[in-house]
Amino acid sequence: TNGVITIDPGYKNTGSCESAITFLDGEKGVLRYRGYSIEELAEKADFLEVAYLLIFGELPTAEELAKFHADIKAQSHVDEDVKKIIDGFPKSAHPMGVLSSLTSALVAFNPSSVNVDSEEEMYNAIVRIMAKFPVLTAWAYRKRVGLPLDYGDDSLGYVENFLKMMFKKPSREYESNQKVVDALDKLLILHADHEQNCSTSTVRIVGSSHAGLFVSISAGIAALWGPLHGGANQAVIEMLEAIKEDGGDTKKYMAKAKDKNDPFRLMGFGHRVYKNFDPRAKIIKKAADNILEELGIDDPVLDIAKGLEKEALEDPYFVDRKLYPNVDFYSGIIYRSMGIPVEMFTAMFALGRLPGWIAQWKEMRLNKEPIGRPRQIYTGETLRSFKDIKNR
Ligand code: SDX
Repeated sequence: TNGVITIDPGYKNTGSCESAITFLDGEKGVLRYRGYSIEELAEKADFLEVAYLLIFGELPTAEELAKFHADIKAQSHVDEDVKKIIDGFPKSAHPMGVLSSLTSALVAFNPSSVNVDSEEEMYNAIVRIMAKFPVLTAWAYRKRVGLPLDYGDDSLGYVENFLKMMFKKPSREYESNQKVVDALDKLLILHADHEQNCSTSTVRIVGSSHAGLFVSISAGIAALWGPLHGGANQAVIEMLEAIKEDGGDTKKYMAKAKDKNDPFRLMGFGHRVYKNFDPRAKIIKKAADNILEELGIDDPVLDIAKGLEKEALEDPYFVDRKLYPNVDFYSGIIYRSMGIPVEMFTAMFALGRLPGWIAQWKEMRLNKEPIGRPRQIYTGETLRSFKDIKNR
């Protein structure tokens, strides 16, 4: 503090806005979307219904939901020229980099999406990104595995059609597995919003300059990619696999996580706000048990995860710092059980978080928030005169 400016690294104690979208209580491990508990929504709603709730503020009537879905279906295609952009990527390109690029590129094919002055224009931009993002996400995967960039079947539900777009093989019928559809639907609901996390704050600040919705989402995707944020779900599985390769030696990794000289962190553990169990982790852990049992999969990595959780919850280092499993700790185990590769895990987080980013961007614009422009405390050189290069 210099009397006027207070520096708050990572904004740990700074509120950036007032918001009516998501409420979370870190001490009690409570999370609600527009006043509804995520426990109820995960149990009783479907993902598109929750997306509507977050974006428009109320649970939709059957007619409202049908119209929302119909409007999305009418936009769930992408200009064929976007395929030329995807062609330019190597197969090894990380899906989050592909998606951040393609989401920005979408502006070129939907130029009207940047004008959001009327309610109708804003609705059209929202419906377009809700419709086209699942296509781009599925195509980011299909590019990696050399499958044609095809469409699914829009007589299916939003999540079911996404899974078909992901996994449909040429000249083969695609059989939906309702258990997988339900598990993914629930997982996407649990990722849908989380108040002012790093990627949502990024969406808000980019949007505050009145850059369009699509590029604001693109910036959110970039922020989510980081291993300290959404990228943790990929890092968790890579850590659990390493522990498995190491003969299941969780103690070694716990010691590394506690060693101040070792940059290694127990991925999927800890949270800026939750100083109690992340309520999403509890639901996801149960859902992981259920889906693996339903699919008859015995994934040794799940047992390692449970062992690690048990040890950490009994270890003073973690207990003193109130470090508990977060949303990313068990989610990868479910994605994997569906045949989703680890490189796609953070893209799945983005698919789930899309409605939350949209809702927060919309609230920021409708509240006419000022452009985000923080100050600083200057610690550099005082005034000095230029020195000619021959005198340096
Ligand atoms: C998400 O913000 C959100 O809401 C995000 C999210 C969402 O829905 O949008 O919930 C999604 O990003 C979940 C978090 C996923 N990230 C990880 O799992 C990566 C591992 N976690 C950590 O990097 C960390 O816990 C953060 C990033 C989640 C939180 O970091 P903070 O709040 O800045 O806490 P910190 O780094 O200051 O840590 C406090 C102490 C430190 O020890 P001391 O310096 O006090 O001795 O706890 C230690 C840290 O070293 N610590 C860990 C640890 N997390 C914190 N030590 C080992 N392993 C960890 N995972």
